[in-house]
Amino acid sequence: MKLCIALDLPTMGENLFLAKQLEGRDVAFKVGFKAFLDGGHQSVTRLKEMGFEVCLDLKLYDIPNTMAEAAKTIAGFGVDMFTIHASAGRSAMEAVASAVDTCFHRPKILAVTVLTSFSNDECYEIYEGDVADKAEYFAVQARRAGMDGIVCSVHECEFLREMVSGILFVPGIRLNDTPDDQARKGSLEVASKVGADYAVMGRPIYMDENPLIKADWALREIARLNDEL
Ligand code: C5P
Repeated sequence: MKLCIALDLPTMGENLFLAKQLEGRDVAFKVGFKAFLDGGHQSVTRLKEMGFEVCLDLKLYDIPNTMAEAAKTIAGFGVDMFTIHASAGRSAMEAVASAVDTCFHRPKILAVTVLTSFSNDECYEIYEGDVADKAEYFAVQARRAGMDGIVCSVHECEFLREMVSGILFVPGIRLNDTPDDQARKGSLEVASKVGADYAVMGRPIYMDENPLIKADWALREIARLNDEL
């Protein structure tokens, strides 16, 4: 399991400052649309120049042609992974997969199953089904469409792992139980036990009064958990 820090600070300057402090560590960074709107693709390039693995988390959701064209542009940024919504549908996912297959640099495509902020009730309201069923449905669709991995919460990893191969990219990782907008969260220990490949953490690190110390603590904890596997 690898730590992926969500760079959701207000400005790209602040995000890059945090990344710079972590240069040399075995950590991935996730650039969301907030950071991307502020820093553009240069922010991604900077992170790559610093030697980090980067996931561009723009969660594409559109018609197949638009998503495929956007995917080609994203591939040109040199990112390692990027996200799309599995709920955009099988043809959209297939179009994205074919588009990146033609690119010189082919990033891995991760399909979001059910957002980690959704509770079961919210999932019912939107998808008319519970989280487990919908996550399974989207994960299977994503696999069939040639996605390289899925985004899900710690709660679904174990049973989805039995069903689909590929990367499990897992947001909603917490170091303690402070309430926030994430409905389905879990600890690093649970994430490791259920087979997460990337443990994604944003606020628990960047909102800390000392993000560097917090990130280093998380890295040590992950190294310990990886050794135990
Ligand atoms: O601050 P926090 O640890 O909740 O950050 C989680 C990050 O993961 C955010 O950038 C959020 O946009 C992203 N994410 C998520 N749930 C998904 C996909 C991405 O929380 N299903």
